[in-house]
Amino acid sequence: MSLADREGALTPGELRGLFLFESLDGEQLGWLAERGWTASAPADTIVMAEGEPGEYLILLLEGTIALSRRIGADEVETNRTDQVGVYAGAVRSYVDAETAKGYPASVRACSDCRFFVLPSADFAWLMRTWFPMATHLLEGLFLGLSNTQTIVNQRQQLLALGSLSAGLTHELNNPAAAAVRATSRLRERVEGMRHKLSMLAHDQIDPRLLTLLVDVQEEAVRGIADAPKLSAVQESEREDEIADWLEDHDCQAPWETAPIFVAAGLDTSFLERVEADAPPELLEGSLRWLAYTLESELLLGEITDSVNRISGLVQAAKQYSHMDRSPFERADIHTGLESTLVMLNGKLEGLDVVTDFDRTLPPVPIYAGELNQVWTNLIDNAVQAMNGSGTLTIRTSRDNDHVRVDVCDTGPGIPRDLRRRVFEPFFTTKPVGKGTGLGLDISYRIIVTRHGGDLTVESTPGDTRFTARLPLTERPPT
Ligand SMILES: Nc1ncnc2c1ncn2[C@@H]1O[C@H](COP(=O)(O)OP(=O)(O)OP(=O)(O)O)[C@@H](O)[C@H]1O
Ligand SMILES: [Mg+2]
Repeated sequence: MSLADREGALTPGELRGLFLFESLDGEQLGWLAERGWTASAPADTIVMAEGEPGEYLILLLEGTIALSRRIGADEVETNRTDQVGVYAGAVRSYVDAETAKGYPASVRACSDCRFFVLPSADFAWLMRTWFPMATHLLEGLFLGLSNTQTIVNQRQQLLALGSLSAGLTHELNNPAAAAVRATSRLRERVEGMRHKLSMLAHDQIDPRLLTLLVDVQEEAVRGIADAPKLSAVQESEREDEIADWLEDHDCQAPWETAPIFVAAGLDTSFLERVEADAPPELLEGSLRWLAYTLESELLLGEITDSVNRISGLVQAAKQYSHMDRSPFERADIHTGLESTLVMLNGKLEGLDVVTDFDRTLPPVPIYAGELNQVWTNLIDNAVQAMNGSGTLTIRTSRDNDHVRVDVCDTGPGIPRDLRRRVFEPFFTTKPVGKGTGLGLDISYRIIVTRHGGDLTVESTPGDTRFTARLPLTERPPT
């Protein structure tokens, strides 16, 4: 049985009994009686499916129907009724927009049902011709709502982008500045070394001494990598020791050179070895040369570290914005969490950050880029709630056939009466300009609608946790 199978017709009198048509005049009812027909559907059949082209408007004459909508992976029943005259189907066919053309919901016959069926083209004509003003108003309402949704989505993307670029700029600034500083100092050192070399050559030193110096230099440079990490106290003690030694040996500016030897992991015993081999009048020049070489090496290391840090950040940004991946795929949930933490690092200053990750979790089917927006929003909220001090905990775990991600903070919490409202769009307790109240609304939609998961909150003062559950079972992307 399908809606196209005409079983019979309704009289104008019968049509007037349906509340949708009660105000129509005789002529209009006659037109409807001619255009529409009755059809039936047996119990437990799908009468119309959400999203399919909206061919008909139906009015229930007998039986019980259930309306449902697909939300994420679930089919959610939105209404179940046996009210005669209840209508469904192509209710928006008079709106001149592509998005209004499909069935907005699925309709299932719960028992044997009978309907009055009207083709959507006739319904659209009827609305536009008989109720032009109402049609304009409804059309405006429909388009207004869907525009709002689009603007809200764009706004959120901008927010995420803003958060991303602010975080990235902040993070890139330090290593970039360090690399620039190290490079210009390195230039001075190289210059100084050329100078020293000519001085050594000028003194017509014994070539054997030069060989020795180069050997010592190499040994010292190799030692840099294994230089023990000293505490601040140990470091300054060793600096004192070396500076005193240099002073005793009539070297100039001992306080400049001493820190370099310390950073390279050398102590006075190494200097004594140089002393044993070098003629006294050349000791100072030799040591200075050694210091220059070591400092250059240290600066090169600093530049390498900075540049590595920059490329790590760019990698994290790429991960975060997910430019290098297809939109829906199985991925390690931690990759996105980690890159989000890197991106937000600047905001985490002063906070204790605890990551408690279950690395044995299998890959989860996700839209990784969108989930990063969720993590950003949840972490942003937690950070703002803690206002500069507290502990941010990110925990991952397995929860039956779901992966669970908790974002916990030790802030003041969310009062019970507000807890239900935090997921509402535009609900915010933050001052104008600080919060838009969209973070959690968008996060909820990404987790629930896009991933078929679940986002919940529990809160007591000092312990607030947002929990996202993501299904491990694959399902067709929506
Ligand atoms: N971790 C938290 N601790 C305390 N309150 C929270 C927390 N997370 C959210 N809230 C409350 O929920 C409200 C709504 O959060 P939501 O992220 O949706 O918007 P917002 O943070 O105010 O603004 P936006 O995220 O758009 O910048 C917040 O204003 C705040 O009152
Ligand atoms: Mg927020």
